[in-house]
Amino acid sequence: MKKILVTGGAGFIGSHICLKLLEKGYTPVVFDNLTNGHPDAVPDEAIFIQGDIRKKKALDSVFAAHSPLAVIHLAGLIEAGQSMSSPGLFYDVNVTGSQVLFASMQQYDCKKIVFSSTAAVYGNSEKYLIDESEPVCPTNPYGRSKAIVETILADYCKIHGFRALALRYFNAAGADPAGRAGERHEPETHLIPLCLMAAKNNGRAMSVFGTDYPTPDGTCVRDYVHVDDLADAHIAALQYAMKATDPAFEQINIGREEGSSVLEVLKLCEKITNCRLKINFKERRAGDPYRLVSHNEKAKNLLGWEPKFTDLEDIISHAWKFMEQADR
Ligand SMILES: NC(=O)c1ccc[n+]([C@@H]2O[C@H](COP(=O)([O-])OP(=O)(O)OC[C@H]3O[C@@H](n4cnc5c(N)ncnc54)[C@H](O)[C@@H]3O)[C@@H](O)[C@H]2O)c1
Repeated sequence: MKKILVTGGAGFIGSHICLKLLEKGYTPVVFDNLTNGHPDAVPDEAIFIQGDIRKKKALDSVFAAHSPLAVIHLAGLIEAGQSMSSPGLFYDVNVTGSQVLFASMQQYDCKKIVFSSTAAVYGNSEKYLIDESEPVCPTNPYGRSKAIVETILADYCKIHGFRALALRYFNAAGADPAGRAGERHEPETHLIPLCLMAAKNNGRAMSVFGTDYPTPDGTCVRDYVHVDDLADAHIAALQYAMKATDPAFEQINIGREEGSSVLEVLKLCEKITNCRLKINFKERRAGDPYRLVSHNEKAKNLLGWEPKFTDLEDIISHAWKFMEQADR
């Protein structure tokens, strides 16, 4: 069995990656403490172990029992707003947890890893399309925790011979096109599911934070990439890391190369759900960069990856299909 350790595999993105791994003939070994994951999001054919990445003994026993070929490391805390009030928690889970994982990988000679990084490492930029040469300048502790882990990984590559790819995702959105998985963060803080939940619950008001940013309509602009495309990018990255013969570390953007403002997303959600949303306009939120849009050239050249879902309407429609059937 070709086993791949997937930390955080019971979460939104991890559950879609598990489906892809199974399609490609790998067996995902999901390691997740379920703080934000769902046991029923793990496909039946995957192996599930409940545990915390900060606990080395627990991780060691997974490496000893399963001898994974490589690791896809998604486990962590993800909410940038929460990181502004609880930075220590983010450094503990995201940074300390990653270090414990890398130590275990080194001990068991499993040195190939795809790491979930984020566009939040960039902060504000003058350029519309951000490429990987843009300075790392996060505006919140969440982004900083990911930037620190990238630095640690680069050292593990140089010093311990790891082969690592840090995928800097922009905003993951959508759901499995076949409806087998979708987004279920609790509490939900992401714009698209919040709009869809508001539409489903007919009347819940939406908050829009900041209307005076230097963007065409004054609201923040983000790049939404389909979670199915994101899962494909992981397979391509995994295969790249497994083929590499020399120690290597790469940071690679994964987005759709198209920005959408908060108000544009709200309007599309209204169109797809056929529901008028109530909007509360509020002050800017601390730590939010005004615009993050990906330049994907490196992903195309190095991994041969490009998004299949180029239309945001399709991405939101898949999320809506999942939301309609889910109990939210
Ligand atoms: N969702 C996005 O748009 C986005 C964008 C950029 C980067 N990312 C990164 O992708 C990864 C996955 O994001 P997601 O949206 O699927 O989030 P998620 O919260 O759905 O998944 C994260 C998973 O990690 C698990 N986890 C948290 N702390 C853990 C710990 N100490 N030990 C073991 N498991 C733990 C949670 O239970 C959860 O299942 C995260 O690392 C996140 O930072 C996400």
